[in-house]
Amino acid sequence: MNIGLLGCGAIGELIVEAQVEGILEDIDIIIVYDQDRGRAEKCASKMPKPPKIAENINELIENKDIQLIVEAASQKAVRDYALKILENDKNLMIMSVGALVDKEFYNLLVQTAKKRNRKIYIPSGAIAGVDAIKAASLGKIHEVELITRKPPSRFISDKLPGGIKINQDMKEPTVIFKGDAKTAQDFFPRSINVAATLSLASIGPELTKVTIIADPTIEENIHEINVKGEFGTLRTYVKNLPSIKNPKTSYLAALSAIKTLKKISEHIEIGT
Ligand SMILES: NC(=O)c1ccc[n+]([C@@H]2O[C@H](COP(=O)([O-])OP(=O)(O)OC[C@H]3O[C@@H](n4cnc5c(N)ncnc54)[C@H](O)[C@@H]3O)[C@@H](O)[C@H]2O)c1
Repeated sequence: MNIGLLGCGAIGELIVEAQVEGILEDIDIIIVYDQDRGRAEKCASKMPKPPKIAENINELIENKDIQLIVEAASQKAVRDYALKILENDKNLMIMSVGALVDKEFYNLLVQTAKKRNRKIYIPSGAIAGVDAIKAASLGKIHEVELITRKPPSRFISDKLPGGIKINQDMKEPTVIFKGDAKTAQDFFPRSINVAATLSLASIGPELTKVTIIADPTIEENIHEINVKGEFGTLRTYVKNLPSIKNPKTSYLAALSAIKTLKKISEHIEIGT
């Protein structure tokens, strides 16, 4: 399968490396685009058979030789380009999942994918349990909760609720957000895509509870999930090591993108 890459940052680069290492043996990255051309060039230079570097987004989206575009750029990129990608008869993998908590936009993308007979893939990202939660949501789910802990530095570029400022010298873990997954996206567009993924796999962004803690006692991003429903209860806990390329991105999130790509071309699928 020929694919195109939208966004050549931490995740994009790890996908390229996976392909170079032979992990994605049935996938060819034949075109890449990044608004920062230097990043696209860096990605391309890693490949023995360098892909085309698109000069602009249309060159990527309208490329006739690719079947799928991997978005690893930003929520804005999803809002600006996802619909056009599907309308150009491409499948789409989305990493900046937070853009999908807008119900109207989500429904529009799903309807367009259906009309065009295309697929939208959303990797589990940096959390565990999405497989079981998807199955459990066929019955009644009573409660879904995400508790995320990150070192204070990870929130530096976020505009916090109530104008709270993160004190980088804080000594104690501090709750900086408590609310639903939809509101969490408004405040933490970069750092809490997992809340969107969890909510879309279960009871939706408005009903999924999210607590975010700036924790100076840890160095990793930690995601704990608690779900109660007709199936019973589920609790998962993941302590994520950061990607070497971008400490804000968990390595597991990139691996989950790579595994999703691999799954598309494999002939056995394990897990829901
Ligand atoms: N689903 C998850 O669990 C999960 C986990 C980590 C990161 N993410 C999200 O995935 C995305 C990529 O993460 P990353 O760590 O690789 O980020 P990054 O900042 O390292 O790289 C993003 C790249 O995309 C490019 N880019 C941004 N907006 C663009 C646009 N509109 N058009 C073209 N290029 C654009 C940037 O120049 C940059 O090179 C981010 O939105 C991030 O929030 C999701």
